[in-house]
Amino acid sequence: DADANPPVRRVSDWDADRLADLADEHETPLYVQDLDRTRENCERLLAAFPDADVRYAVKAHTGRAVLEAVREAGLDAECASAGEVDRALAAGFGGDRLHYTAVNPPDRDLDYVVDVAEREPDLTVTAGAVDTLDRLAERGYDGRLCLRVNPGVGAGHHAKVTTGSAPKFGVPYDRAARVAREAAERFDVVGVHAHAGSGIDPDQLDSHRELVARMGNLARDLTDPAADPLDLEYVDVGGGFGVPYREDAEPLDLPAVAEATREAVGDLAGLALAIEPGRYVVADAGVLLTRVNTVKPTPGGTVVGVDAGMTDLLRPAMYDAYHPIRNLGGADGEPDPADRGTASVAVAGPICETGDSFCTDRALAEPARGDLLAIGVAGAYGYEMANQYNSRPRPAEVALADGEARVVRRRERLADLTTVEREAAGAPETAE
Ligand code: LLP
Repeated sequence: DADANPPVRRVSDWDADRLADLADEHETPLYVQDLDRTRENCERLLAAFPDADVRYAVKAHTGRAVLEAVREAGLDAECASAGEVDRALAAGFGGDRLHYTAVNPPDRDLDYVVDVAEREPDLTVTAGAVDTLDRLAERGYDGRLCLRVNPGVGAGHHAKVTTGSAPKFGVPYDRAARVAREAAERFDVVGVHAHAGSGIDPDQLDSHRELVARMGNLARDLTDPAADPLDLEYVDVGGGFGVPYREDAEPLDLPAVAEATREAVGDLAGLALAIEPGRYVVADAGVLLTRVNTVKPTPGGTVVGVDAGMTDLLRPAMYDAYHPIRNLGGADGEPDPADRGTASVAVAGPICETGDSFCTDRALAEPARGDLLAIGVAGAYGYEMANQYNSRPRPAEVALADGEARVVRRRERLADLTTVEREAAGAPETAE
């Protein structure tokens, strides 16, 4: 029922006292990932797409605790690199639940995955270029293969994540049938795949439908009993299901998306439908906590300086992405945020780039030095894209499950920043 598992969790829905305690105990910046909410998101997907194969796009959040929760919830894993395959294996995904999507894969990655496939022959490799097929065959791979197609139609929250129309991804649609049939001479071709892009919102569903319809047609062409049919198992229409970042944005109506998908794909005559959501599974299950250290009046408005930056959450700098921000208060001697006035502020981090800013002109409960801010919907592509620019150690992460909190990634220390240099210099010391 919708109350027990609502389609969206807003930053205002988080327990402020709990978050404040976690920040006190573990310091900031701190990622908090709620595994119970992660499970709920999986459950809604499985309920909306009851007979589809649902594969979690691991790249959205690769943390071990998240992968285990998603595996237990019953989703498969879609991996974009050897590293992600390695993590998924460690989290208990067997080959029959592992999909490796190779995009211009480095030799090292192909070597690794072909080696895994020898032990886990049910693993599926998805490839989107004839060169990739050749390189797999050169390595002796003749296992399960899915052909990634460039459907010529894309969607997404930003041009940088609109994959469906980007020539980098997949075999051009009008060549796909021929390439798939040729591939079947060397591999066990089990599926066709396309991905529109990431962050598809309710108003972009037409593009989604168009992509799905094209993939349905391709699958019917390839399995036409009158024309040398391939023994396909599934049609994978990718991920990209958007989540609301703005407080007033409506969530996707998932059952309606599922219905539209079914309708658009048409009769699959026994083939399964597969989807690959990443963001939808983890986004609203995560927040980034950060402490206010500076409140600076300027002629252009108040700048609120915080201890998290673009190194911790890159999305605003990279895509101009909006993340909701809530002032949880806590500054010494200041009233509860609910009893303060509202101020329009910019929130900026400690990195020496103008782009290191989480928002401008945002209405917040008047911030004071020492306040804790929760940056919402940070569970997808948050920690995942964190980096060490400006020699900033990456933040810690706490996972919540059944009311318990545990540190699942310790905060990096300064010594972690130089480990690889010290090891290269022949003095292997483990970071202290
Ligand atoms: N399948 C494939 C083949 C993909 O490339 C992706 C995402 C997904 C599934 C999952 O898409 P999702 O359901 O998470 O939207 N860093 C960007 C997003 C990049 C997504 C890349 N591919 C961001 O922070 O918005």
